[in-house]
Amino acid sequence: MSEPSASECRGVGISLRSVTKIFGAFTAVNDVSLDIAPGEFLVILGPSGCGKSTLLRLVAGLESVTSGSMLMGGADITALPPADRRLSMVFQSYALFPHLSVRENIVFGLRLRKRGAQEVAERLEIASRLLGLGELLDRKPSELSGGQQQRVALGRAIVSKKPVCLMDEPLSNLDAKLRNSMRREIHALQRTLGITMIYVTHDQVEAMTMADRVALLDGGRLVQHATPAELYSRPQTVFAARFIGTPPMNLVPLHEAEGGAALEPGGAVVLPGVPGKGVLLGVRPEDIVLAPGGLPARVLDTEFLGADLLARCALAGGEVLVRLPGKREVAGGDGVRLVLPPQALHFFDAASGRRRDDILCGA
Ligand SMILES: Nc1ncnc2c1ncn2[C@@H]1O[C@H](COP(=O)(O)OP(=O)(O)O)[C@@H](O)[C@H]1O
Ligand SMILES: [Mg+2]
Repeated sequence: MSEPSASECRGVGISLRSVTKIFGAFTAVNDVSLDIAPGEFLVILGPSGCGKSTLLRLVAGLESVTSGSMLMGGADITALPPADRRLSMVFQSYALFPHLSVRENIVFGLRLRKRGAQEVAERLEIASRLLGLGELLDRKPSELSGGQQQRVALGRAIVSKKPVCLMDEPLSNLDAKLRNSMRREIHALQRTLGITMIYVTHDQVEAMTMADRVALLDGGRLVQHATPAELYSRPQTVFAARFIGTPPMNLVPLHEAEGGAALEPGGAVVLPGVPGKGVLLGVRPEDIVLAPGGLPARVLDTEFLGADLLARCALAGGEVLVRLPGKREVAGGDGVRLVLPPQALHFFDAASGRRRDDILCGA
């Protein structure tokens, strides 16, 4: 039995150069430039309507760019029709043919391209083994669960042996548990095949768990292109800070005080050396520590999540959410002391929303 040969379907790199798509007066994708390495798993992440699907459809050739260009393996593909772009696609709607068996659904594209019977059989065998579809090959899509249907759609992408695979929210029709396992499957599959993946989702958990790098979009613009770890630890904008992390990062406006920043106008300095004017303090709920010597605060209410306990706390100037171990005994009305560890603090310009790396606490 032959595995997919390296030369045939190893990933190739993709470069987007100032890609823009305008529909009428609306700019859906705005000047996006991005390099995706061969064999990389790139996730395009962002809220609904931010241009993710449009960007993917531009790469696929299902839409034409208004301006900008796209390269695949160094060659310009901007004007190529979809069929010549060496990529496969998996959509949220699995787009299976209801009257065809699983087997015929998977090899449909190969038959269209008039591949020989032996090649078709070999590729089907590999795909069905990788996806555990062996016993389902004679069924019709209506006789499959959602997860099984999704696997058939993946099988179709695998047998095409294209070096690039595009997926648009492929798991959003599945229940939470199945989404978890399919996430792992898709990731493992991408690694096994070595293909380049561009995967669209609005789900930050999918992005954080699957991606080598994430392209975060907001209103058609690329706001950050980074590894999941970087995106979490050094969000470049307030938007990125709020979009990554559950619950999201706390953001507290700072105020100018003698020798540093205060949490309320005329308040005491809590962050020495930090300019207060026009600056937002960001701190993740999991980074705040309850300890003596911290800022005095009052617990407003709590939410028990099993492993974690979320405590909404009022402190001078505002409210913050604090994530504590679930065993921690804290209840609404309690007085607590909150420590904001200097190394866990983020600062943003209040007007532009941009990260300010020039600010260091305690400096
Ligand atoms: N063919 C089209 N004509 C006009 N507007 C479109 C078209 N396709 C998408 N849009 C608009 O572009 C924006 C981005 O859409 P889309 O890329 O589907 O977002 P996402 O996939 O991130 O939810 C939306 O406001 C959508 O209404
Ligand atoms: Mg979409």
